[in-house]
Amino acid sequence: MSIKILLVCLGNICRSPAAEGIVRDLCAAKGLDIATDSAGTARYHLGKSPYGPMQEAAKARGIDISDLRARQVCLDDFLRFDLIVAMDRENLSDIEDLRPSESMTPVVLFAPYADIGAEHDVPDPYYTRDFEGCMDILQSAAQGLIKELRTGGMFSAPD
Ligand code: 4NP
Repeated sequence: MSIKILLVCLGNICRSPAAEGIVRDLCAAKGLDIATDSAGTARYHLGKSPYGPMQEAAKARGIDISDLRARQVCLDDFLRFDLIVAMDRENLSDIEDLRPSESMTPVVLFAPYADIGAEHDVPDPYYTRDFEGCMDILQSAAQGLIKELRTGGMFSAPD
């Protein structure tokens, strides 16, 4: 059984595509059966590649996200994904506002899985310009989330 994870931020050009690339590469390296996608709550950048400085920060750490394209979260995502991961509390609230009444899909925050502080939100580097700090949190949170999923028994892949 493949687990499907959707990573969500506001614009889908900085945090969530970087998070998607990080989770995708980590799972591939560990041989984990996981499918990833990312989306934005807003439609500002539909069809666009990840933001240049975010792509560069990821590339500098060996993560290529140039193939990703921005899209908006939609109702169907509640059927297609097993888990939806929000980059900040505003994203989480906007996703919950979209939830169909019959959907039981968990929506969680990403930053609390990181072991570098007790942040609730991944700060948005589009505004802070701290792409390195963002990558630090995303990479740590990705490790934490994958560990949590593995210990929770949601992967069928071997160690
Ligand atoms: P993201 O960052 O949500 O991490 O993709 C943003 C990118 C663009 C905008 C806002 C946030 N914008 O307003 O264009």
